[in-house]
Amino acid sequence: MERELIFATSILSSDFSKLREEIKKCEDAGANRIHLDVMDGHFVPNLTFGPVVVESIKKVTSLPLDVHLMIEKPSKYINDFINAGASLIAFHVEEYPGKNSPMPKDGVYPRTTIDMDEDKLQETIRMIKTKGVKVSLALNPPTSFFAQKLSDELDEVLIMTVNPGFGGQALITSAIDKIRNIRSIFSKDIKVDGGVNEDTISKITDAGANVLVVGSYFFRSQNPKEALEKLKSLL
Ligand code: DX5
Ligand code: ZN
Repeated sequence: MERELIFATSILSSDFSKLREEIKKCEDAGANRIHLDVMDGHFVPNLTFGPVVVESIKKVTSLPLDVHLMIEKPSKYINDFINAGASLIAFHVEEYPGKNSPMPKDGVYPRTTIDMDEDKLQETIRMIKTKGVKVSLALNPPTSFFAQKLSDELDEVLIMTVNPGFGGQALITSAIDKIRNIRSIFSKDIKVDGGVNEDTISKITDAGANVLVVGSYFFRSQNPKEALEKLKSLL
């Protein structure tokens, strides 16, 4: 099946002192979405920004805002991000451990889970969907558990191909098998986040992913438009 390829440029590696121009760069290069990494210093050992910044970005672009919540207790903040203009919200399954998984705690990084609290997860999914916003479930590299039961309700699965929290890391190659495995049971969008560049992109798409987050490869290149064209030309 031919799936639409979607490029989401991650502003994590952009120059925050001139965000409007950096976003314009994404538009001019033909990006399909702006990827926004929200970090709370607990789920990941880094901090970024919250709904206020998302709301400001919404004012300067018509591209869909693809919000990636790397935060504890995402349901507490979901409405704020929806009101700020998110088109899609990805939150992490590791925040919904089932009875066989330990409760997530500070200092444990990257977090993982071996099962899920289905009711709580459903509740968060509904919270997003009732507002007409797309929902994506994110999996950290050590997490091999996939909430297949909830597939019908998800618009996307986000497979982290680096440990979450930082841009510019190398792709963890074992994640390629995870893409392939999930593609065999999930037919909607599969997004890959971390280490996407000209050396890794075809392995990622061959394994079945169709939504590509591109951070440092895009923003750290001399000519971001050409960088994105180069990636497209390799597929
Ligand atoms: C990492 C973030 C990514 C990051 C990717 O936790 O979720 O979105 O910006 O950056 P690159 O493309 O540089 O790996
Ligand atoms: Zn991300």
